[in-house]
Amino acid sequence: MLVIGAGGGVGTFAVQLAKAFGAHVTGVCRTSKTDLVRSIGADDVIDHTREDFTDQVGHYDLILDTTGTHTPGPAATRPHTPRNARHGRRRRGRALAARH
Ligand SMILES: NC(=O)c1ccc[n+]([C@@H]2O[C@H](COP(=O)([O-])OP(=O)(O)OC[C@H]3O[C@@H](n4cnc5c(N)ncnc54)[C@H](OP(=O)(O)O)[C@@H]3O)[C@@H](O)[C@H]2O)c1
Repeated sequence: MLVIGAGGGVGTFAVQLAKAFGAHVTGVCRTSKTDLVRSIGADDVIDHTREDFTDQVGHYDLILDTTGTHTPGPAATRPHTPRNARHGRRRRGRALAARH
């Protein structure tokens, strides 16, 4: 699972809940929050100020965007193609956006 905004109010809950349910969690946050996001259980952390995480989104079964700013494109909806299967992407992913 990818949690965008993992260091925020919603994101910190999402990371911990996902870990409690046994998910492998990658959190996206700024540099100053990477230690926090790791400390609450994220397996991997992407610093969005240094890395373009949108390049990697096809790797996730579930993407939670707490910022509402990242339109789920091929990210979570990548279909099951032979090429994806070769890369271990056997299921169609889902994307959720949390905002009001
Ligand atoms: N908190 C609540 O009780 C609650 C209830 C209902 C709805 N909501 C809604 O849920 C959404 C999130 O709320 P929140 O309380 O979690 O807000 P928050 O604490 O301000 O966290 C939002 C996070 O979004 C990240 N972010 C912002 N722009 C980004 C970008 N362009 N790329 C990557 N990350 C970005 C920031 O991460 P970095 O600082 O690491 O960059 C920030 O930590 C909001 O729309 C809010 O209205 C919140």
